[in-house]
Amino acid sequence: MPERFYVTTPIYYVNDKPHIGHAYCTILADVAARAHRLLGDQTYLLTGTDEHGQKVQEAAARRGIDPQAHCDELHAAFKAVWPRLLCEPDQFIRTTEPRHKAVVQRALQRLHDRGLVVPREFEGWYCVPDERFWTEKELQDGNCPSCGRQVVRLKEKNWFFKMGQYQSVLRDAITSGAIAIHPAHRANEVLGFLDKPLQDLCISRPSSRLSWGIALPFDPDYVTYVWFDALLNYATAIGFLDAEPPTDGSRWPDPAATGAENYAAWWPHVAHFLGKDILTTHAVYWPTMLMGLAEAFDRPREAWLPRTFLATGWFLVDSTKMSKSLGNVVSPLDITDRYGPEALRWFVLREMVVGQDANFSEEAVVRRNNVELANDLGNLVQRTVALVEKWFDGKVPSPASPDPTTASQAAVRELAEVLLRPATAADVADPVWTGDRPAPAAVSIRSFRLHRLAADGLALVGRLNELIQHDAPFRTVRDNPAAAGQTLYCALEGLRIAATLLQPLLPSSAPEILRRVGAGGSPVQLAGLQWGQLSPGAAVASGAPLFAKHEYVAPVTAAPAAPTATQPSEGAAAPSRVQSETSPPRPDANPARPDVPIDQFAALDLRVGSVLVAEAVPKSSKLLRLEIDLGEAAPRQILSGIAESFAPAELVGQQVLVLANLAPRKMMGLQSHGMVLVSEGDQGRRVLVQPARPVAAGAGVR
Ligand code: MSP
Repeated sequence: MPERFYVTTPIYYVNDKPHIGHAYCTILADVAARAHRLLGDQTYLLTGTDEHGQKVQEAAARRGIDPQAHCDELHAAFKAVWPRLLCEPDQFIRTTEPRHKAVVQRALQRLHDRGLVVPREFEGWYCVPDERFWTEKELQDGNCPSCGRQVVRLKEKNWFFKMGQYQSVLRDAITSGAIAIHPAHRANEVLGFLDKPLQDLCISRPSSRLSWGIALPFDPDYVTYVWFDALLNYATAIGFLDAEPPTDGSRWPDPAATGAENYAAWWPHVAHFLGKDILTTHAVYWPTMLMGLAEAFDRPREAWLPRTFLATGWFLVDSTKMSKSLGNVVSPLDITDRYGPEALRWFVLREMVVGQDANFSEEAVVRRNNVELANDLGNLVQRTVALVEKWFDGKVPSPASPDPTTASQAAVRELAEVLLRPATAADVADPVWTGDRPAPAAVSIRSFRLHRLAADGLALVGRLNELIQHDAPFRTVRDNPAAAGQTLYCALEGLRIAATLLQPLLPSSAPEILRRVGAGGSPVQLAGLQWGQLSPGAAVASGAPLFAKHEYVAPVTAAPAAPTATQPSEGAAAPSRVQSETSPPRPDANPARPDVPIDQFAALDLRVGSVLVAEAVPKSSKLLRLEIDLGEAAPRQILSGIAESFAPAELVGQQVLVLANLAPRKMMGLQSHGMVLVSEGDQGRRVLVQPARPVAAGAGVR
């Protein structure tokens, strides 16, 4: 059923230039909005900049310019990035806009009038250079835990929002699903936070310390705490408290409606996308603020609850957090300049399982672009269209039979039909679609598993490549043009469906693929999409390669060159047992070991497991943390030194062999309860050892 979908990104601090982490949030939200349009939903995508607060004030001071001038400049820089990544926000809000200040002040005044914002004496340890309070517990050796300098005991008046009183209502809203937090383990994190008493929230800062903020309307000596101001952006943007429409030419959700009408129509459909680091502010402060506001404005609480949160993981670089001091901050514009925006969009959606961390590597951007986009998808389009041009006069051939006539055609059709299946609400919630199994696109979209949409679109492309290879129309066409026509119809039709499903990720080449396969005017909405709609006789079109291939040139470093396959490393000298005539001599990397009695082998508990979760381990370039279903009551945590060979996303849903009774071991502070078995492929890359066909999790290995 078509719905409304109002998706927001965090608003970005203007203390720095946009980096790949910001780009990920916005690309994901853009893909989600486009995917919902594919479902026929009305969508509205909001992004913006968070322009008040200490960090921005300091950034401007460092540059010796007025904070507003600094914000204007950085705001323009952020705004200019999104079109270059093919993101199309409907509105770009700024917290320094007068219409937003008016909403914040209206909200504060009413909370104050209703006794929900109250003054209190606040005492704590204050770090003068960092300009912030710490609790006794947070101090390190009595000093500031952030900068290590001395702290002073300070007592001052501040204004507090009575957040604590909403603790149990918030808990109930989360457990009942009235507020949905994805992925599920993040909801547990928030519930864990709510197990401790919820304190009231300090929402002011004395203007003597922080001048760059929105003044409290009832106490001009104070400005609003930046998060109180920032979170309200999501509501201002669509007309909360009768906010004015944007003045920069952005589209207002319904141009004919007032602020109050827009808010009433769109707010129940909000989905906030945000990084896992800002989950508490979003899933605790924000709903309780809205509960307080609903109470203060005499509105039903349920109508103002934020409905959905999606907490995303982080992109790490070499398994480490990006930071200016490490010099490893990746600019999304550098990447798009080198490889194009679709290579970046494709990479982030393929590499990161939504909600989990992933590694950013430029080399992997290039690899995925060259292999998945240029080879698998781009070449397939070129080859198919070229065959149709050569043998079928450039017209979509008429299939001899409406049903598949070979196993490869049946495999294509079967997958396409799964992906096109309509989805009920029960389907969307069904855990059967989590993991590796191809899912109806509507399920992947509505459950925010957009990486799944990408993987399934690519799997369809994979089956189409197998079709061309196995049915070999280029060979059969001379003797049996009807069979070749049947295969090519299947290939073009499969491409039409794959391109339609991949449109949200590839907004510029997917429509071009549709044009090339003769589907220029076909429906772009999932609801009407069915196998067999491509019209025989429609003209196909050839053209330049759809995706350029690139070469990755590693940055020059002073490190010594690693040994390559033709330069055996020291100590590996014995000749290989079997050598092909053409291959260079190979060192015997794996000499035979002494025999073992069978009971020693029988003592090993070897089992098949299914990988449920895979994520990078902070500060480790080698380890991945896996959660593996071994057919036991709960999944096991296993650490595996395979991070250099696999992106976490590649592992989720895979079956692996596990040594389940290896003595537990602690690595990087985490317990590992078993070992994943791998083999060694080319250049030392690890390769999973897997059953040839899926088996039940926990199945034994003998
Ligand atoms: N201004 C606040 C958000 C206020 S929303 C009402 C803020 N801004 S931020 O610019 O610091 O971060 C914006 C988003 O970028 C956050 O969701 C954060 O998680 C995300 N990322 C920052 N670094 C990241 C990565 N390395 N990888 C992925 N996202 C990360 O917080």
